[in-house]
Amino acid sequence: METNSLVAIANHSRQKLEYLIRMAEEFEKHPNRNLLRGKVVATLFFEPSTRTRLSFETAACRLGARVIGFADPKVTSGTKGETLKDTIMMVSNYADIIVMRHYLEGAALYASEISPVPILNAGDGANQHPSQTMLDLYSIYKTQGTLDDLQIYLVGDLKYGRTVHSLLTAMRHFNPTFHFISPQELRMPEPWKQYCRDNHVRFIEHEDFDADTIAGADILYMTRVQKERFADIAEYEHVKDRYLLKLDMLSRAKENMKILHPLPRVNEIEYAIDDNPHAYYFQQARNGLFAREALICDALNITLEDVVNDKNIIL
Ligand code: CP
Repeated sequence: METNSLVAIANHSRQKLEYLIRMAEEFEKHPNRNLLRGKVVATLFFEPSTRTRLSFETAACRLGARVIGFADPKVTSGTKGETLKDTIMMVSNYADIIVMRHYLEGAALYASEISPVPILNAGDGANQHPSQTMLDLYSIYKTQGTLDDLQIYLVGDLKYGRTVHSLLTAMRHFNPTFHFISPQELRMPEPWKQYCRDNHVRFIEHEDFDADTIAGADILYMTRVQKERFADIAEYEHVKDRYLLKLDMLSRAKENMKILHPLPRVNEIEYAIDDNPHAYYFQQARNGLFAREALICDALNITLEDVVNDKNIIL
């Protein structure tokens, strides 16, 4: 159905991304408002989540909406055989907007095609994670003062990591140079590399992960090896500890360099780095609140102008 769903960030223009960043800035200044009073936001999580679900729910609560949903599909009638289609049709009877995470690639697109209310994709399998990308863009913009002409190093599981795939598509508007650092088994899939070529996005592949390799980074984007996507657990064990970021590897880092990670972290960033000025992953997760306030409002046709002119701020 024709709604303001967010299925993939690739559908957004540079202008639209900058507009959403402006809106996130407004929400960071004043997160508590009544813009969604009377609305109901549903969060349907068919896969585990901490940040995405809780920050979407916090965003809804801070804007005056009420939240329904589930964090575990085992408590739903899906266990009795109810289909995704019927679940979406039911929930759209109750809620004004649906935030959904699903383990199947394409589930969000499918839901958006049948749902009478907007669907916000909170992650579909190894495919896309557009709301994560929005907070990543906001974090990059805040720390670098620009999104243009940056050296962005993506490290770890580039095969199954949906956050890095979404980030590629959004950054194509901003003339980045990407550096892909991963074990052979978890390299950026060929279709995504072709996407870069088709969109004139430069990329360089590396296997080394050391102080020299990352010395040119503006953004060092670490990722977790996605254990849940491996069919063979032995293959996971083989690669899981290959690319770990240690404090001494930051010795040659540029002053402005920030370490991002969509989280959860397993062991790929040493805890000693958490207090280092280059570490930004916890602030990045906080930025998710403001970015998701912007995304919910945008999907419900609340404009940047509405937010800027909102006099009903709760201090
Ligand atoms: N970044 C992210 O998607 O985290 P969660 O899986 O905890 O939602």
